[in-house]
Amino acid sequence: MSLYTIKTLRPTCYMLIGVPGSGKTTWVLENHPSMSYASTDKYIDQFAAEAGKTYNDVFEASIKTATSRMLDDVADFITDMNDFVWDQTNVTKKSRATKIARLVKEDYQITGVVFEVPKNLKERLASRPGKNIPSHVMESMIKNFEMPTITEGFSKIIIASSTIFLSSENDRVNPSITIKSDFISDNI
Ligand SMILES: Nc1ncnc2c1ncn2[C@@H]1O[C@H](COP(=O)(O)OP(=O)(O)OP(=O)(O)O)[C@@H](O)[C@H]1O
Ligand SMILES: [Mg+2]
Repeated sequence: MSLYTIKTLRPTCYMLIGVPGSGKTTWVLENHPSMSYASTDKYIDQFAAEAGKTYNDVFEASIKTATSRMLDDVADFITDMNDFVWDQTNVTKKSRATKIARLVKEDYQITGVVFEVPKNLKERLASRPGKNIPSHVMESMIKNFEMPTITEGFSKIIIASSTIFLSSENDRVNPSITIKSDFISDNI
């Protein structure tokens, strides 16, 4: 690839959007296993493995360091203009805004990848021993979930479980998309 080509290509950040247990990390492993990858869980899992403890055991003590290492990784990806996946929950506009502003400033294209809340969310969450997200955290994330829009700064939005694509001509998600589940009643 010539230097000229490298300079004119815009890198892509795949920003994942979904509550815990909705399948984000599984999607990365299935779809982009070798792409650069920003995640706090990667470090928390590593610290837990090194200490012979569970994710929950080390979470409080390691979240700060894990966040700082993840941000270092993001800075490196941006410096190298790498495509990368940002695997955090990112369920509110507020939680996405600073990240989007920075990526846009660095001339990234941002693809939002939305994960619906699966019907069997409780079952999926229970399938991960040692990683228990408190119920009030889950409820709050589901309640406060905000569907991404193109106007927020995304170049493209994909619903991970289907083939719906959004563009500047079609800045709306199909209203039938499920973001609630048996985990929480629909009237909240
Ligand atoms: N498409 C799928 N079909 C069935 N089971 C799935 C699917 N995707 C993920 N799972 C299962 O659901 C559980 C949660 O998935 P995963 O860990 O990928 O979620 P996550 O969104 O990354 O959660 P967190 O935000 O807590 O990291 C896992 O046990 C995984 O095997
Ligand atoms: Mg995950």
